[in-house]
Amino acid sequence: MKEDLQYDVIIIGCGLAGIYCALNLDVSLKVALIAEGHIEDTNSYLAQGGIAAAISPLDSWQWHYEDTMSCGHYESDPDALRKMTMNATLEVQNLESLGVVFDHHDDQSYMLGMEGAHRLPRILRIGDYTGKAVMESLWQVARNRENIHIINQFFAYEVVSSPTNASHVYGIYCDELVVLSSLTLVYATGGMGHLYHRTSNNKTVNGDGIAMAIKQGIVTRQLPLIQFHPTVFFNLKGDQEGFLISEAVRGDSALLLNEKRERFMRKYHSLLELAPRDVVSSAILNELSKQSEPNVWLDVRHIGNTKMEKRFPTIYKYCRERGINLDYDLIPVAPGAHYSMGGIAVDPFGKTNIDGVYAVGECASTKVHGKNRLASNSLLEALVFSKITAKEISRMKSSHEKVIQIHSTTSKQIPHYQVELRTLSVWMDENMGIVKNYPEIMRMKKEIQAIIDEPEEFVSINIEDIKRNNALIVMNEMLTQALQEKEDE
Ligand code: SIN
Repeated sequence: MKEDLQYDVIIIGCGLAGIYCALNLDVSLKVALIAEGHIEDTNSYLAQGGIAAAISPLDSWQWHYEDTMSCGHYESDPDALRKMTMNATLEVQNLESLGVVFDHHDDQSYMLGMEGAHRLPRILRIGDYTGKAVMESLWQVARNRENIHIINQFFAYEVVSSPTNASHVYGIYCDELVVLSSLTLVYATGGMGHLYHRTSNNKTVNGDGIAMAIKQGIVTRQLPLIQFHPTVFFNLKGDQEGFLISEAVRGDSALLLNEKRERFMRKYHSLLELAPRDVVSSAILNELSKQSEPNVWLDVRHIGNTKMEKRFPTIYKYCRERGINLDYDLIPVAPGAHYSMGGIAVDPFGKTNIDGVYAVGECASTKVHGKNRLASNSLLEALVFSKITAKEISRMKSSHEKVIQIHSTTSKQIPHYQVELRTLSVWMDENMGIVKNYPEIMRMKKEIQAIIDEPEEFVSINIEDIKRNNALIVMNEMLTQALQEKEDE
């Protein structure tokens, strides 16, 4: 760790939104890009499907806008959505200029994938590891930027604002409590999928950033608005593995079958397996309620091993390692928590209610996705809005203003609560899932509040307790908002 811990901008989180924000800040700004883990530990890295952009001559940004609007039940913010869909091609080209190479046909045209609720193929992809490939390219660029100081394995746990609006980020780095200070802070901390037991998310993604923001007095909204991906691999042993079988597999003709091996989507939507995600997930839930098996099946036998290995190498390998032969066997799948459409409330420039504090990527609520995100719009959102935020920060702040250090330090003692995250996550699956169980949510809300109000004891600061405490803070807020929404109905 460098001696001077004062920066112009601190970005918490090294997923796509965090890195892209850092890369788009004015180079005169001294930036700390801090992260709990490494790039591999982000949801961006796991993204399989790709990036939606109306890049084909047969497509238009207006169609992309309309598909997103309709998929999100016409609840997207029109201005935010216009910005996102209009800028998509530009951001794809910018990624290419930074070294990203999307899949092409032999004639050099883009190999565009099809995914649910898009009217035509518009997904730019790199095999089934688009997120990994994009992140690795951008990481190389960020590492070579002199103004960006990357600090991995810095577990941020609390942000304190001083009266001059500087942010002081307390975190654990190499077992030491360290404080970094800056005039501008950007939350790029991802969503909260791991509050659920069944999830596609990386295990680090349990709402830590959102909890920190809540503790800092930052307003959040629509936290209960979680998207459930229809085809998360179903571990028959019940382990929390969280592996996604990309929607692109259904885009390439995979079928969904129920316990009787019937193609059930015919009963639910004219787009069949490529209906909007919320429709497919609800259809699966309905099928599960009528059968004894705990999962449905994805059938790729007509695609077969050879094509699957070429087109979806990560998924092919994952299945093969579990003894699934895609020429003969079906893949067990069921819906799982995938994406947080709500989060830290931001304005069109990514600003929160606290001066100098911004949020980008999945932790931010831009309202661009409405009630149900269109497939492959998440990396796009991260790119478009993190750049807008970076430009705004560069415009607002003159470099090297002095940060006034605050005197109060955060406490090194934290509350310890006797609750198991696994138990809470199973409860979330059962009661805060596709269908919400309001009487049970009301009961749990009281229980969580009572737990928070009466810690068992106080212990020295440690990551395990911080993570548990963060989960309780986010759940408490999420359940409060769910009950409020119900009351407002
Ligand atoms: C997928 O590959 O199915 C996920 C893409 C997304 O979440 O948009």
